[in-house]
Amino acid sequence: MSARIQAPRGTSDVLEEAALARTHLEGVARDILERAGYHRIETPTFEATELFARGVGESTDVVQKEMYTFAEADGTSYALRPEGTAPICRAYLEHGMHKLPQPVKLWYLSSFFRRERPQKGRYRQFWQVGAEAIGSDDPAVDAEAILLLAELYEAMGCRGVRLRLGSLGSPETRRAYRVQLQAFLRAHADALAPEVVARIDLNPLRAFDADHPGTRRVMQDAPRLLDALADDDREHFAAVRALLDAAGLAYEIDPTLVRGLDYYTRTVFEFTSDALGAQSGIGGGGRYDGLIEQIGGPATPGIGWASGIERILMTATAAPAAAPPVDLFVAYATPSRRASAFRLAADVRRAGHAARVELGGRSLKGQLRQADRAGARFVAILGDEGTSLKDMETGEQRTVEAATVMHHITHGWL
Ligand code: HAM
Repeated sequence: MSARIQAPRGTSDVLEEAALARTHLEGVARDILERAGYHRIETPTFEATELFARGVGESTDVVQKEMYTFAEADGTSYALRPEGTAPICRAYLEHGMHKLPQPVKLWYLSSFFRRERPQKGRYRQFWQVGAEAIGSDDPAVDAEAILLLAELYEAMGCRGVRLRLGSLGSPETRRAYRVQLQAFLRAHADALAPEVVARIDLNPLRAFDADHPGTRRVMQDAPRLLDALADDDREHFAAVRALLDAAGLAYEIDPTLVRGLDYYTRTVFEFTSDALGAQSGIGGGGRYDGLIEQIGGPATPGIGWASGIERILMTATAAPAAAPPVDLFVAYATPSRRASAFRLAADVRRAGHAARVELGGRSLKGQLRQADRAGARFVAILGDEGTSLKDMETGEQRTVEAATVMHHITHGWL
């Protein structure tokens, strides 16, 4: 026997209950988002690598280490999409969506690819449900987007969900702040952990995440980006908060909230769940007012979020939807009635009912066991002496004309 081939590391097959749970989640997300005016969009699974290099940011881990790339014959490099925001902004530009009433609201549920170290809640192929609202910088769009994600978690019964909120201001503010923070860190270098000192040039913001006690003490007095925001950014953030307050959504301001993608400006947010392990981020997003310009379009504001399907389902308590009920199971007592049974099941399905018929050549007894397992409401048995129909709920069984089976299962006994 040759060696068995297995699914790649960090990927998984979605079977039975997990598939039902996803279908349920997709329906819940669609209802919530489409009620708020979001339209479904799907973009290709791969895109020009440059879209992500320019959109997500050359210096991010996602672009530097985690993309699956390949070259076409003409030398163009493509990447399996690591995220959905840059592709949707590309589609917005490519289809002239700026001519539509703004903001254009789009949602998606798709798979994404990152070459990360696989662990619980972290995969190399994973699924996200996401929403993007492009073309308006109104703080109400931010607040609405955040509320919709909170509503999704609530509808799915996600446990221990908390929202952290911050604002990054503009790239200019961030650059000035970075210089200020670097100066502060250098002035306190003696008290900092060596790895924090080593990263002062490259990533000074990481100092806020350090566990080292001396570093933590120093960082209590470090300058905060939130205090350095320009007036219009500060007002924008206050307006987002006021709308969330008005809607009664609880959040925690996190002045050091940083996200792994470079395109964020102004509002950023992250939902975490206590029910997740180390990978506690269940979903997040923010504003990306500079992204469309980065990928060659006119300055166009946007805001959105994405949430991992696997992570939502790990924390969800909402019972997964059951398999759809089977209205009729068609069994046959003799092989001579097999074709008629097949035909009856097809007709019943075409009329909009769920119907099954034996496909595996089981005995009548085996077929009835299958009908039972499927939880069929009615079972028809086609035999040489005629057709019998049994209502499995009441136990009533009658001999009927084969042509009337559909009527019986729809309207009850004639
Ligand atoms: P992100 O924070 O990189 O943002 O990913 C969003 C969510 O996707 C995470 O909170 C997590 O639930 C899930 N996720 C990310 N990586 C993995 C993984 N390797 N395995 C399992 N789940 C994962 C974005 O992707 C942005 N595009 C969100 C956004 C939309 N910002 C603005 N618009």
